[in-house]
Amino acid sequence: MFVPFIQYLAFALLSIRGAECTGLQTTPSFNLRPFSIDLSNRVPTMLSKINETQLPDLPEYPGVGSSFGINLDTLKSFQQEWLTSFNWEKEQSSINQFNHFEATIENLTIHFIHEKSKCPNAIPLLLLHGWPSSFLEFVPLINQLVQRANISYGKSVSFNIIVPSLPGFAFSSPPPANWTVVDTARVFNTLMTDVLGYSTFAVHGTDFGVGPAYVLYDQYNKTTRAAHLVFLPFFPLTPTELQALNITLSPLEEFEEQRFIEWDTFGLGYFLEQSTKPNTLGLALYDNPIGQLAWIGEKYINGSDPRAGTGGSLLNSNEILLSVSLYYLSQCFVSSVYIYAQNPGGFSTNYTKARTDAPLLFSAFKYNIGFWPPALVAKVGNLVSYRNHYVGGHFPALENPSALIADLREIGTYWTD
Ligand SMILES: *[C@@H]1O[C@H](CO)[C@@H](O)[C@H](O)[C@H]1NC(C)=O
Ligand SMILES: *[C@@H]1O[C@H](CO)[C@@H](O)[C@H](O)[C@H]1NC(C)=O
Ligand SMILES: *[C@@H]1O[C@H](CO)[C@@H](O)[C@H](O)[C@H]1NC(C)=O
Ligand SMILES: *[C@@H]1O[C@H](CO)[C@@H](O)[C@H](O)[C@H]1NC(C)=O
Ligand SMILES: *[C@@H]1O[C@H](CO)[C@@H](O)[C@H](O)[C@H]1NC(C)=O
Ligand SMILES: *[C@@H]1O[C@H](CO)[C@@H](O)[C@H](O)[C@H]1NC(C)=O
Ligand SMILES: *[C@@H]1O[C@H](CO)[C@@H](O)[C@H](O)[C@H]1NC(C)=O
Ligand SMILES: *[C@@H]1O[C@H](CO)[C@@H](O)[C@H](O)[C@H]1NC(C)=O
Repeated sequence: MFVPFIQYLAFALLSIRGAECTGLQTTPSFNLRPFSIDLSNRVPTMLSKINETQLPDLPEYPGVGSSFGINLDTLKSFQQEWLTSFNWEKEQSSINQFNHFEATIENLTIHFIHEKSKCPNAIPLLLLHGWPSSFLEFVPLINQLVQRANISYGKSVSFNIIVPSLPGFAFSSPPPANWTVVDTARVFNTLMTDVLGYSTFAVHGTDFGVGPAYVLYDQYNKTTRAAHLVFLPFFPLTPTELQALNITLSPLEEFEEQRFIEWDTFGLGYFLEQSTKPNTLGLALYDNPIGQLAWIGEKYINGSDPRAGTGGSLLNSNEILLSVSLYYLSQCFVSSVYIYAQNPGGFSTNYTKARTDAPLLFSAFKYNIGFWPPALVAKVGNLVSYRNHYVGGHFPALENPSALIADLREIGTYWTD
């Protein structure tokens, strides 16, 4: 990127003076700039590919329902909806109402939403998505979290919200080949501190976003002063392993444990393919919106509460089409699946305690695909709050936003600036 000489000179002088006064190392500018989504020019191609994709008239093996993967009728009805009622332009302008930015950190373009509270003492909160999700998952939380809310007698809380796209997702550049969640954590710590100027912050993570969230909690303990998670970067235990630890489960917890066993038994195929042959899968679906819909849509459908899209759940077919459209239009499918291959130890089986005194809050949602009882979560951090919810699954921000908002506000109870 070309930097005009005058601007460069001014920056250099400022940097030198800053260094003289404070003795601190000077920081580069990170080229922080406002950003607005404009993928409209790719939409006609996407729609014509959706329209041209021929699905079979009848299922090859009727009567198997969804037990062998996405149902043909489901896929067809999504295809119809994508062509006839989904409106990318409308979605794009609604998403653009938030303040988006890009910054250059370690040669990567990092895209993020930054919404500041009008309240003083708002807690900076970094929200980290996973796969097959994106920054979009957290959109339903933003407006409420920046508002002040009373959490306990005499105590109120509000947040400055930062929602980045993980490297390789949406508008953040694909990282180098050997990039891990530890690298992502370092980049996000730089984003929060050097780019945005927050000396301390809280982090929330879900799915693969718990990788960098937990590294921040564990290895950046001066800056990351609270963590709230709905998933752990540790592989859940089997009922036999739980029993060996003398951990007994309530009926709700038994159900949650069974959800994990079902995923571990019948739902791991994608995990192995993405961990071992991301190029084969990635390139097969790169230019195939219906293919991405089948692969990603099944995860949304199977990983969520069966009541998804009803009651307070925003996880309806339009939301799934929006997610897949973002993957297709931003051309991030290949780099998104690489995150599994790049992090072979992403979900450790060795439960170790984070090196921090910062509080850890955890929320379990009944239909999530992984389950960790309080005794297990307490092994990996300074657990101060554990809440269980009967509604919601793997995408709580979309499925049960009001519960997640209330749980995130609990961070304020333990926050010491
Ligand atoms: C989810 O997957 C399981 C196991 O593969 C299957 O039995 C179930 O029918 C699926 N459910 C839905 C709603 O797709
Ligand atoms: C889909 O293709 C058909 C026939 O080729 C055409 O009549 C129709 O307008 C197309 N629909 C869309 C939404 O592009
Ligand atoms: C950034 O890219 C430039 C030019 O491609 C290279 O010289 C430099 O070493 C890179 N820096 C980092 C931190 O990767
Ligand atoms: C918070 O509590 C104060 C004092 O009790 C009250 O005046 C205020 O309206 C409450 N705010 C909200 C958002 O509930
Ligand atoms: C990636 O690997 C290259 C060479 O193999 C090494 O120079 C570089 O430091 C590695 N980068 C990271 C982020 O681990
Ligand atoms: C589990 O409980 C049994 C019986 O009280 C005890 O002998 C054993 O040491 C306990 N195991 C663990 C891992 O705490
Ligand atoms: C588990 O992690 C701890 C701390 O990092 C390490 O000392 C220990 O060797 C690990 N155990 C296994 C079985 O990998
Ligand atoms: C932060 O971690 C280091 C080890 O990495 C540890 O020595 C230190 O006590 C920790 N600080 C806090 C505040 O937990």
